[in-house]
Order: sequence, then structure tokens, then C-alpha cells
Amino acid sequence: MLAGNAIGKEFTVTTFGESHGKYVGVVVDGCPAGLSLSEENLQAELDRRIPAQPKIVSARIEKDIAKILSGVFNGFTTGAPIAMMVENKETDSSDYEAIKDLPRPGHSDYPARVKYGGFNDYRGGGRFSGRVTVALIMAGAIAKKLLSRFDVDVLAYTIAIGQVKVDKKFSPEEIRKNRYAAATRCPDLVCAEKMEEAIVNARKEGDSLGGVVECIALDMPVGVGEPLFDSLDADLTKALFAVPAVKGVEFGAGFRSAELRGSENNDPFLMTNGKVATSTDNAGGILGGLSNGMPIIIRVAIKPTPSISKEQKTVNLSKMKNAALSVKGRHDPCVVPKAVPAVEAAVAITLADHMIRAGFIPKTLKEK
Ligand SMILES: Cc1cc2nc3c(=O)[nH]c(=O)nc-3n(C[C@H](O)[C@H](O)[C@H](O)COP(=O)(O)O)c2cc1C
Repeated sequence: MLAGNAIGKEFTVTTFGESHGKYVGVVVDGCPAGLSLSEENLQAELDRRIPAQPKIVSARIEKDIAKILSGVFNGFTTGAPIAMMVENKETDSSDYEAIKDLPRPGHSDYPARVKYGGFNDYRGGGRFSGRVTVALIMAGAIAKKLLSRFDVDVLAYTIAIGQVKVDKKFSPEEIRKNRYAAATRCPDLVCAEKMEEAIVNARKEGDSLGGVVECIALDMPVGVGEPLFDSLDADLTKALFAVPAVKGVEFGAGFRSAELRGSENNDPFLMTNGKVATSTDNAGGILGGLSNGMPIIIRVAIKPTPSISKEQKTVNLSKMKNAALSVKGRHDPCVVPKAVPAVEAAVAITLADHMIRAGFIPKTLKEK
């Protein structure tokens, strides 16, 4: 394994690239042969990354063009490694020269500079930039296609931005129909507008907001996941923390389950259309690290964007003196909308890996 840039045991994903480098890309190895795959499939997922609403995103709006370099022949995966990349075109590094000795509070600048002895590419956050989610999303596009061959659907959407929270449950149809209709990626379109307003207001004050992304995986077979260290929830969490700004992950009732009694938290089993199901899903579809056939329900807490124009205290690392910093340049006042497809990708990659490991997905697909 490389130094933290790869994940997965059977469906492995290795990403590369920095915010202001030449390319951001990914190599997926272990994808079964026989999956139909095109650059358009990747493009469709990448296009979901940037909300078409300039009021709530950074001025770095790039039309990312996905290229497949290997592993696909005549429109199908061959079983060989699939290399994919996107060129970074909109790289304006000027703002970063001015602040290269002033680590942004909340960002990776300080520990990264110490760890890599100052050799790290600090421009735009370098390897720690949200831009690296482009690589995750391309790998996720393959994982989602693979999962859909086995009827598993993964859907992520926003349920909170700052203090604006959704207070209803969505049907899968509602989520599919509405989540990309709003710039904030919230399927409740009334709430979505309030979220947008909250982001605009925070931006006006030189500040930023965080939020919560929920992700569900539907129609999972029973028994995906391995005991203990490779439990499905542990591996999902690990992949999700590769999305920058993720600060918490919970499954089903999550932290709330700590307050419940067993009689309230247990999901009673019942026969439904000849199948074993549960009447509630406090477990979030995972028991003992194994999928139990109910929807997997994950909520991901995302912190407010670190780079804000409001003045903050920092230090000058070349002079070793206290300093003040107001971050200029192109930053999202809230990264939650852009994180939605990244969360979906991280979940899909992990489920694809575990579905192969558990034998639900064969190494070569039958023609369809
Ligand atoms: C899609 C996406 C876009 C992001 N854009 C920005 C940004 O414009 N400015 C910024 O300061 N942080 C941005 N971030 C967050 C930082 O990359 C992240 O907070 C930083 O690397 C520190 O890592 P940590 O928050 O996981 O500790 C973004 C994150 C994501 C997922």
C-alpha cells in the first residue's frame, strides 16, 4: 500500500493529484471484466459536483473533462487497471503565494508543512484540497455502475446546512427526483432554498457553514462485510474520512442510540413478502459489521469551510510571530453541496469492494 493514497482489498482505488498540479486522477484495479463503461458515465457523475448556482460556490468553476486511459476496450472493462484523469485548468495560485507562511486556521497547511518539511505543494491546499474528490468521484462512478448491475443503489443528499435542517423522511423516488434539482442538493426544495439563503448570508459576513449529508444504500444483500477490523461500518467510515472536511459518521440511530433502551433501539424482525426484514432501521442496515438486508443509512457531518475572509488569528511561520489572516481567493462558503457526490462515491467504492470480497459480485461479469 502506498502512503495513504489507496483503499480497498479487491476493488482497489489509488488516487493522485493536487489542487494546482497538472492532473487529478485515479487508478481502479480489480474491477470485474465485462462492465460497460464510457467516459460519458464518468462525466455524468463529475458534472454533479458543481452546483449551477454561483452564489453558493467558489469562483473556481471548472468543466472537468474525464478521460479513461486504460482498462476499457470496445466499451467494456477488460479486468485490467482502469486509469482515469482530469486536467486542472483553472489554477490561479497567486493568492497562495501571499499566505504560504500563514497557515489557515482549520486547514491542513500547518501539519502538512511540518510533516513534509515544506516540500508539499501548498497551492490550493495541494493534496488536501477538496479537488481531490474528483478522483474519488470517477472511481465511484465505476463502483456505482457495478453495484447497479447487482441492483444496489447508493443515494446521497443534503439534510442540514448550518442550523437549517430537514425534518422529514424522503422516499427513494423523491430523493432520485429532487436531490440534484437544488443547488444545495437537498431533496426538500423548500428547505433547500432556506439552506441557500443561509449560505449566501454566511458568505456576506465573510464566513462559512457546514452541514450533514445523508447517504442510503438500497437493496443490499445480507452478509456483506467481514468481522471485526474489516467490518462494513468500519470500512465505510474509513473511506468517508477521505473526503476532506468530514468530521463525523453515524449509522442508523447513531449517537441517539446511546440514549435509547434496548427495547427501543432493537429493530424487531418480521416477515415481509416472504422475506426477513425489520420494522425499524435503527441499526442503519448493519449488524455486527455485516449488512442485514435493510437500507444502509449513514449520516456524515461536514465542517464549515476553513478558508474565510473574516479576519482570524494565525502565526507567521517564517518569522515565528503572531499574525492575522483574511483568506482571499476562490473558496466555497459551504462545501456540503460538492461533498454530496463524493460521499456517494466513497460509499459505493466500499460496498463494491465488499460485495466482491463476499462473493456477491464475480470477477468476470456475464454478458447482459
Ligand atoms: C468538495 C470540497 C471542496 C472544498 N473546498 C474548500 C475550499 O474552497 N476552501 C477550503 O478552505 N476548504 C475546502 N474544503 C475543505 C478542506 O479541504 C479541508 O477542510 C482541509 O483539507 C482540512 O481537512 P479536514 O477538514 O478533513 O481536517 C473542501 C472540501 C471538499 C470536500
